[in-house]
Amino acid sequence: MGARTQPLPADGRSPARKRETHMTEVRSFCVASSVDAIWCSREASRFAAEIGFTGNDLAEIAIVVSELVSNVSKFAMRGQVTMEAIGEPRRGIRIVVADDGPGIEDIDSAMLDGFSEGRMLCDDEIRHDGQGLGSGLGAVERLTDELFLENLEEGGLRVTAIKHVPWPRRR
Ligand SMILES: Nc1ncnc2c1ncn2[C@@H]1O[C@H](COP(=O)(O)OP(=O)(O)OP(=O)(O)O)[C@@H](O)[C@H]1O
Ligand SMILES: [Mg+2]
Repeated sequence: MGARTQPLPADGRSPARKRETHMTEVRSFCVASSVDAIWCSREASRFAAEIGFTGNDLAEIAIVVSELVSNVSKFAMRGQVTMEAIGEPRRGIRIVVADDGPGIEDIDSAMLDGFSEGRMLCDDEIRHDGQGLGSGLGAVERLTDELFLENLEEGGLRVTAIKHVPWPRRR
């Protein structure tokens, strides 16, 4: 079986085909491996540009998706990313990343910079390979306008992030 080079769109259609046919308002991708963070963040940036984001905002949206998808691959293995254009009351993007992993026991602590894998990291500790800094969720919060984390009844975590297109600058 050949290596999968792109995340599988949740509706089974290729992102390229979607773009050819019409401007879609929702895009959805399955997450099953760490490389999906790269593909999903690229798709997020493209979609955000269609919505009307420019410049740094495109990079910030890519970072948000990359971080949330990498958390799924690190802590839950499998999940799904859905990106949706929102229009009212203000244009923007809603990013929902859901997984069927263990969820987060203490969400408030997990949001703190330096809190990783259930504890606050110490400055002088010896770090293991692949260990995070515990700053991903904090960064996602700083780069978005709204952020919600919910443990799902059926198990797993759902993260919803919203970012708005900035108002046009007055001359
Ligand atoms: N999808 C998830 N499922 C289960 N636990 C999660 C999930 N996402 C985050 N967590 C928990 O919340 C903690 C904080 O997440 P955060 O992304 O801020 O840090 P990190 O991934 O440990 O490090 P970094 O993002 O800096 O590489 C994680 O260490 C993990 O314990
Ligand atoms: Mg992280």
